[in-house]
Amino acid sequence: MTQSPSGHIRIFDTTLRDGEQSPGVALNHSQKLEIAHQLARMGVDIIEAGFPIASPGDLEGVSRIAREVRGPVITGLARANRADIEAAAKGVEAAEKPRIHTFIATSPIHMAKKLNLAPDAVVERAVQSVQYARTFVDDVEFSAEDATRSELPFLIRIFQAVVEAGATTINIPDTVGYTTPEEIRTLFGAVRAALPEHVILSAHCHDDLGMAVANSIAAAEGGARQIECTVNGIGERAGNASLEEIVMAFHTRRDHYGLETTIRTRELYRASRLVSRLSGMPVQPNKAVVGDNAFAHESGIHQDGVLKARETYEIMNAELVGREAAVLVMGKHSGRAAFRKALTDLGYADLPDDKVQHLFGRFKDLADRKGQIYSDDLRALVEARSDIP
Ligand code: KIV
Ligand code: ZN
Repeated sequence: MTQSPSGHIRIFDTTLRDGEQSPGVALNHSQKLEIAHQLARMGVDIIEAGFPIASPGDLEGVSRIAREVRGPVITGLARANRADIEAAAKGVEAAEKPRIHTFIATSPIHMAKKLNLAPDAVVERAVQSVQYARTFVDDVEFSAEDATRSELPFLIRIFQAVVEAGATTINIPDTVGYTTPEEIRTLFGAVRAALPEHVILSAHCHDDLGMAVANSIAAAEGGARQIECTVNGIGERAGNASLEEIVMAFHTRRDHYGLETTIRTRELYRASRLVSRLSGMPVQPNKAVVGDNAFAHESGIHQDGVLKARETYEIMNAELVGREAAVLVMGKHSGRAAFRKALTDLGYADLPDDKVQHLFGRFKDLADRKGQIYSDDLRALVEARSDIP
């Protein structure tokens, strides 16, 4: 298997295109621009700013980002036809680094039922589209929609033809979230071996079976050097691979993968909050990296461990992703060490041990009734004089 020599994984963010395809999400121009600026601040390599043929508003949104956002490559999506490609070219024309991203479906079911085209005609359309896109820009990405349900010899044939026509990045989408890590690793390995080294392979995974992040990482093991993903994993149906999870997986397990992104990880949380607020899509509390509970410890055993050494139960620091230090959540599972620490943090460092012991019993009773215990509850416990010895 021929591997790209570089260990740099390009992060292609499609929050503003595939992410905006989440049911119920519609971002206006200034919201898109605000997100694009945050993506640039975070250091993403490529921003897919929209689908310019979709509406005049989409075209204007892509144009504004192309005019105003500097740093990342700016791309717009286009089906494999002249009108789409012209709209995408217009959208990205003012960009410092413009790219056109064109796609056509390659699986038997999509070609027969959706496109009503024979495989030869699909190859011809793909080649013509890439050639046409190259008349506008030097940087052209080609995607084979539903690639993971396509036949490998056909995929290789169409990829070789579009590379010959001038495509510089080849994207292999798992459009319906169907593949497995093992399968996609092998698929990328086979495509990598069939294409010249200068061509960048890209993965674009959907999360229908909850495997989008694992599949994206497996694709990188097979030779992908660009990963397409969205902030908070928003996107069609169950969403796309989550940007923050991919970035932190490569960062935290660089010992294992030996691959790296150049994302400023301290900007991840801010990006997550911004996208959640503007898209109206809440982040589930237990979501990795950016969920409310991702750095919260509740059980006594864990709290005691973290108070002794954070690494006992933390594989990455909250600060590294731009959050406050990990919190010890006070609840019925909390132990004495965390209770004592919470009292100290509230200014009750000098309470004698027997009093803390008594309060701890009262705290457990309260936690049983109430669930989570907040600072005010702890203050009330300490200040309630009547039955304290
Ligand atoms: O999921 C998909 O196949 C896509 C392509 C248009 C890249 O979003
Ligand atoms: Zn997609």
